Amino acid sequence: MEAQERELMTTGVPSRRVSGFRFHDGTMHQLEVLKFLVPGPAPAICSMATDVTHQREVEEQLRQSQKMKAVGQLTGGIAHDFNNLLTVILGGSETLSEALAGDPHLGRLAGMVLMAAKRGADLTANLLAYSRRQRLNPRATDVNALVRRLHDLLRRTLGEQIDIELALDAGPSFAHVDASQLEVAILNLAINSRDAMPRGGKLTIRTAGVEIGADDARADAGAKPGSYLMVSVVDTGIGMSPEILARAFDPFFTTKDVGKGTGLGLSMVSGFAKQSGGHATIDSEEERGTVVTLYLPRVANAAVPGSATANSEGTRGGNETILMVEHDAMLRAHVAKLLAGLGYRVLVAPNGAEALEILRRNPEVDLIFTDIVMPGGMDGSRLAAAAWTLRPELKVLLTTGHSNAALPDQSDPAGKIEMLNMPYRKADLAAKLRQVLDANWCGFRSMSPTIPG
Ligand SMILES: Nc1ncnc2c1ncn2[C@@H]1O[C@H](COP(=O)(O)OP(=O)(O)O)[C@@H](O)[C@H]1O
Ligand SMILES: [Mg+2]
Repeated sequence: MEAQERELMTTGVPSRRVSGFRFHDGTMHQLEVLKFLVPGPAPAICSMATDVTHQREVEEQLRQSQKMKAVGQLTGGIAHDFNNLLTVILGGSETLSEALAGDPHLGRLAGMVLMAAKRGADLTANLLAYSRRQRLNPRATDVNALVRRLHDLLRRTLGEQIDIELALDAGPSFAHVDASQLEVAILNLAINSRDAMPRGGKLTIRTAGVEIGADDARADAGAKPGSYLMVSVVDTGIGMSPEILARAFDPFFTTKDVGKGTGLGLSMVSGFAKQSGGHATIDSEEERGTVVTLYLPRVANAAVPGSATANSEGTRGGNETILMVEHDAMLRAHVAKLLAGLGYRVLVAPNGAEALEILRRNPEVDLIFTDIVMPGGMDGSRLAAAAWTLRPELKVLLTTGHSNAALPDQSDPAGKIEMLNMPYRKADLAAKLRQVLDANWCGFRSMSPTIPG
């Protein structure tokens, strides 16, 4: 008789315990065993076992997903505030390092500040991608061409010890995806592979089309049926143990030393894939290497040719009149200066109501550049809608540090609404403004009713 049963015999207090058992077929199960005393002239112990393996797994998944949701909300909120700050730091240090280019000492310092600010911007971008709150700008993107363009950068990043092979689908390979975020995702994966191959090895980037049927989707909870373009990053590195594999997608999970890993690479990749309407998988075995695959929604071909590769505009400015709306005074002053520096005439407003007032009094305004998230009841999207009722031909450029904001992003079918993500640099702002100002926006009148609010 077990000690536990002897105790039950003497005290009569029922016991309940969950423990692991190996079944005949070799599988491990969690059994909840309830034991209680059946009194009588010859007392007996009654034992009931329930297999709670599945229940435990579901509970664990739920706990995990609640935790991740909380972390997502937290990081998304913090990242938004950081983006406001970084926009000022990036812009300021850029101006400083241009102005100090002739001074070897101060110029170098300003350059270092700029570098650090860029790293901060990359980090916040990863946080937002993980929490699926970044503003994506999805377009039909030729993924093969994008991978080929990355080849050079990858070769420099990975070093000579690592061979790079591209195994690209021979057919058309377009996905509806944010091109610059896809580049970041592939770079994150390649850097992980480099870290996993300290003595060198081989990195393969593969693209291929795949149809996921209803049956496959049921088998894999993360997948939805549909037509996908797979982008796999394959390495011959150290691989992952089952324990690491189980947690690899978790944010802040890292096996690397302090300062080397942030644990945000894979969570960025999976958050980005999901926000794009796809998903990501990992296949890895210790000592045998790792395959991370992004499944991206496939499209027939480029619907909007060329739009995915904008930004060759440099810092060309203009002389149009821009109404800039931003509630953060520091950011407002900074951006107003940037705009004036590009040659534009600038009017500023701290909120939507004042912006509309200014718009009424100043018919010469060509474009409103507004933050989406603003206090005071009128956010950027509502301001845009109200402005279009006054002036249907008015151009609007929205900006935000995160995207809890009301905006028909993924559902913006014509891709007419233009966004500039914070933090942005002067060149990004300049190029985006020219793109919007030079575009022919005659379809806007019919767009405006789809703005919520
Ligand atoms: N290609 C890979 N090969 C082996 N292990 C990997 C690979 N990619 C990721 N990992 C493991 O997953 C962890 C999380 O990766 P990631 O989210 O990119 O964060 P970080 O690279 O900052 O540690 C890594 O610390 C590493 O243990
Ligand atoms: Mg990483």
